[in-house]
Amino acid sequence: MNKDASPSSDDQPLPRHVAIVMDGNGRWALRRRLPRAAGHRAGIKSVRAIVEESVRQGIQALTLFAFSSENWHRPKSEVNLLMDLFMGTLRSEVNRLSEHGVRLRIIGERAAFPEKLRQRVAEVEKVTSANEAMLLQVAANYGGRWDIVQAARRLVADARAGRIAPEDVDEGIFSTRLSFPDLPDPDLFIRTGGEQRISNFLLWQSAYSEFYFSDLMWPDFDALAYREALADFAGRQRRFGLTGDQASIRAANGTS
Ligand code: IPE
Ligand code: IPE
Ligand code: MG
Repeated sequence: MNKDASPSSDDQPLPRHVAIVMDGNGRWALRRRLPRAAGHRAGIKSVRAIVEESVRQGIQALTLFAFSSENWHRPKSEVNLLMDLFMGTLRSEVNRLSEHGVRLRIIGERAAFPEKLRQRVAEVEKVTSANEAMLLQVAANYGGRWDIVQAARRLVADARAGRIAPEDVDEGIFSTRLSFPDLPDPDLFIRTGGEQRISNFLLWQSAYSEFYFSDLMWPDFDALAYREALADFAGRQRRFGLTGDQASIRAANGTS
């Protein structure tokens, strides 16, 4: 994958990788005196719109937070509904994903999912594996702390087996054990729903992401709102610890 910032069609800097916390489905529904389930269903429309707009814009990777490690503690009926929606959406959207050239990958601890869902996930990943327009990652039963811990566990196993020496472990090596070492870190991290927190999403990978918080509930977040977020990103100066002048020179040289 291209490690340099990709220019968009109108030459604005475009994030290579966008991560989104899709929050606000429940409140969207409650405001309309609908059950929370209606909000989750309405949210699928936004997923479709944002995936398609991402492809249109030329974004290389999109990571959507669909279900956190902590969401298991919601009422059983809501957890079951979310699993059913996940299963149903995987079934109904697979052709549409391929039509748009989208490869799907699920990140998170799969072992906790029902067997049928695990099989379905594996099938959709396989069917879309050759698609090249964009990688869509859906984070399901994902937690940023889980990701770091599972990376640490793999490294410890490697060290015990003599494959790596403890003193060789550095940030680069550590990150190769995380969930998606093949992608650049998210350049842009969006959260809808008005809350301004990470909620245990990409803790390691968002170290230098630009954050964008939208007050729109996820079912109301459409292509227009997304383009506003992308335009806001384009106006930011990313400094990565440098001075503003240094960062400008690096950006002009295309090395940022
Ligand atoms: C986000 O919407 C979707 C999931 C966490 C699965 P919420 O369900 O958290 O909606 P609010 O925050 O209660 O409005
Ligand atoms: C974060 O939203 C998780 C997802 C969007 C999947 P939550 O609604 O679970 O986050 P908190 O509880 O408000 O922090
Ligand atoms: Mg929420």
